[in-house]
Amino acid sequence: MNVLLTGGAGYIGTHTAVELLQAGHGVVVVDSLVNSHEEALRRVERITGREVAFHRVDCTDAEAMRGVFERHDIDAVIHLAGFKAVGESVEQPLRYYRNNLDALLTLCETMDAAGVRDLVLSSSATVYGDPRRVPIVEDAELSTTNPYGNTKLFAERILDDLATADPSWRIISLRYFNPIGAHPSGLIGEDPQGVPNNLFPYIAQVAAGRRERLSVYGDDYDTPDGTGVRDYLHVVDLANGHLAAVDHLADTPGHRVYNLGTGQGTSVMEGLHAFERATGSALPYTVTGRRPGDIAVCYADPTAASRDLGWKAELTVDDACRDAWRWQSGNPGGFAG
Ligand code: UFG
Repeated sequence: MNVLLTGGAGYIGTHTAVELLQAGHGVVVVDSLVNSHEEALRRVERITGREVAFHRVDCTDAEAMRGVFERHDIDAVIHLAGFKAVGESVEQPLRYYRNNLDALLTLCETMDAAGVRDLVLSSSATVYGDPRRVPIVEDAELSTTNPYGNTKLFAERILDDLATADPSWRIISLRYFNPIGAHPSGLIGEDPQGVPNNLFPYIAQVAAGRRERLSVYGDDYDTPDGTGVRDYLHVVDLANGHLAAVDHLADTPGHRVYNLGTGQGTSVMEGLHAFERATGSALPYTVTGRRPGDIAVCYADPTAASRDLGWKAELTVDDACRDAWRWQSGNPGGFAG
């Protein structure tokens, strides 16, 4: 199959490209490079020994998107492009709604005109808001707490309506929990711009000496050690979830949603200690106040993905820390060098 990856030069896109290529699929990438580097795609080619067709295109550019579909024989699309920083979305809601929703609408219109109606959407566990029950099942109540989360929820709703209006669409939305780690080759990994918002990229930079210490955002949650609990998923497992979704689109009429998580909760302190095991040294931290908007506990019930897509997370948080550390220590400046 020939798969178009929007946002394919990013963290999840590059890892997904590797798994698709290694499974024998063709990969075409569109990416605006506003938050990623073309070098990452060269690394994908190095890992796989295969070529990636790349177009520097913003998904909101209808004419350029049409050109990509004219140029390549696309069978299915994995839509990963979008802005993703929660705090920034609160400060710049219009920018987030305009970009993320425009990209989805333009993509779907372009796909429809080209007769390509097989789509996998990058969604997020953020659509569960503050969950009433864990592990979280797909039919749990949905709610969001910020504009970024709204763009994911609205995207899912748009795809519901599209699949209802035209049953020739086959759509899978993947609700990711917390992706971490890097490719075991050490050639690709997460390359955050500026100060990392997320726990593991921050810990990795503390380990590398780029940040002084980790701020642990609260140790008074109702959890075993008082720190927040999340479902951290190795990015290679996540990438394989996309491969499984693409492979199952043919038997997925309409729009289905699946959690991609391990089903295991890990606290901030457990995560920090796992990273210490990977680096072999103690990492400094201070407990500070809670981060506004954070929830105590969030982890997946991944049963549906296992039942319908035949996908299960195989790697551990320790595997992810080892791989993230290999990436971080081998590429201290990220892709920009
Ligand atoms: N944390 C710290 N210190 C930090 C960063 C995070 O203690 O410097 C804690 C948080 O309080 C939380 C945990 O580490 O308990 C995880 O925080 P992340 O920022 O790594 O991840 P979140 O679960 O808050 O958010 C992530 C993605 C969002 C997505 C959400 C739900 O960043 O895009 O998961 O899936 F919406």
